[in-house]
Amino acid sequence: MPQIRYVQPSGAAEIIDVPAGTSVMLAAIRNGVRGIEAECGGCLDCATCHVYLDEPTMAALPPPSDQEEALLAAVAAERRPTSRLGCQVIAPAGDVTLTVHVPERQL
Ligand code: FES
Repeated sequence: MPQIRYVQPSGAAEIIDVPAGTSVMLAAIRNGVRGIEAECGGCLDCATCHVYLDEPTMAALPPPSDQEEALLAAVAAERRPTSRLGCQVIAPAGDVTLTVHVPERQL
């Protein structure tokens, strides 16, 4: 089963088991992970599900769509090369751990 490891700005981390096909945003909301707002509910319309992927996670996943790339320009915290929108990052099947860092702010 895939896992998502959420790392807060403080360095505190939690690991959550998720069914394959679950987005980083949805797993965060369902499990009360702090710092991911997801105001639009995953419609690619708010940019408040911003996360930073670690390098291995970035390399293991498909790149962002053009629509996601465009919305990444609207994130509240610093945009970095590893920035993604959590509603568009989907846990693949298998024993894989995605590591995402929660930004300082979403609004
Ligand atoms: S939840 Fe709104 S863009 Fe991801």
